[in-house]
Amino acid sequence: MTAKPHLRLGVNIDHVATLRNARGGVHPSPVFAAELAAGAGADGITAHLREDRRHIREADLHGIKASVNLPLNMEMAASTEMRDIALAVMPNAVCLVPENRQEITTEGGLDVAGQAQRLKPVMDALKDAGIRLSLFVEADAHHINAAADLGADIVELHAGAYSIAEAQAQEQAQDAEYRRLLMGAELAARLNLECHAGHGLDFANVGRVAAIPQVVELNIGHYLMGAAIETGLAAAIKTMRQRMDEARA
Ligand code: PXP
Repeated sequence: MTAKPHLRLGVNIDHVATLRNARGGVHPSPVFAAELAAGAGADGITAHLREDRRHIREADLHGIKASVNLPLNMEMAASTEMRDIALAVMPNAVCLVPENRQEITTEGGLDVAGQAQRLKPVMDALKDAGIRLSLFVEADAHHINAAADLGADIVELHAGAYSIAEAQAQEQAQDAEYRRLLMGAELAARLNLECHAGHGLDFANVGRVAAIPQVVELNIGHYLMGAAIETGLAAAIKTMRQRMDEARA
């Protein structure tokens, strides 16, 4: 039996910044989290610089580039402001995502076909600079074909609907969404697009997506940060208890 190729894990550190920003200080540090991810075997770091800077900031991206020895995947809207920041940061890859200020998280994939005229100049500027170009799309043939036509290197399939169906225990819907991801990955491979997937993946639902052979990278953030709290909180409390007890001794 031949082993399947290594599936890369891109760790999204946005929500370390969410927690930091809640107090306006420097703790916890997204750069330190990226260093921990590197030490734990992550294959890449993903960070989404939103137009409202609600989590990651430019300085975080520069910090990761300077001190973390992993490829950086910068998620961003296809705006000229973000294009210029990406050209200054020079991540390994840019993943263009739709962005709406009111949304809690990235709600859908890019309308690649409908937005081609807006996307193309931003894509070309980044590609000309040597940055790999990814488009975050629904697993829908229309958008995947359009991504290939526009010259994308990568499509990242939006796993949100698959994840939500799992969270709501809607087995049939989850099966249907899984088949959509599978079809999307197969089409991407036929079009010579590298295929990634992400959004809402967790310990329970990652297996089926990870087993799709055409998918070569998963980008995972929110669940990992929640799991880090769940697995790390007891240790942090014990350390605090110890410091307090030492002070009183
Ligand atoms: N991929 C893309 C393009 C995203 O926008 C996000 C969310 O920022 C993720 C992956 C990670 O999703 P999650 O935080 O739900 O794991």
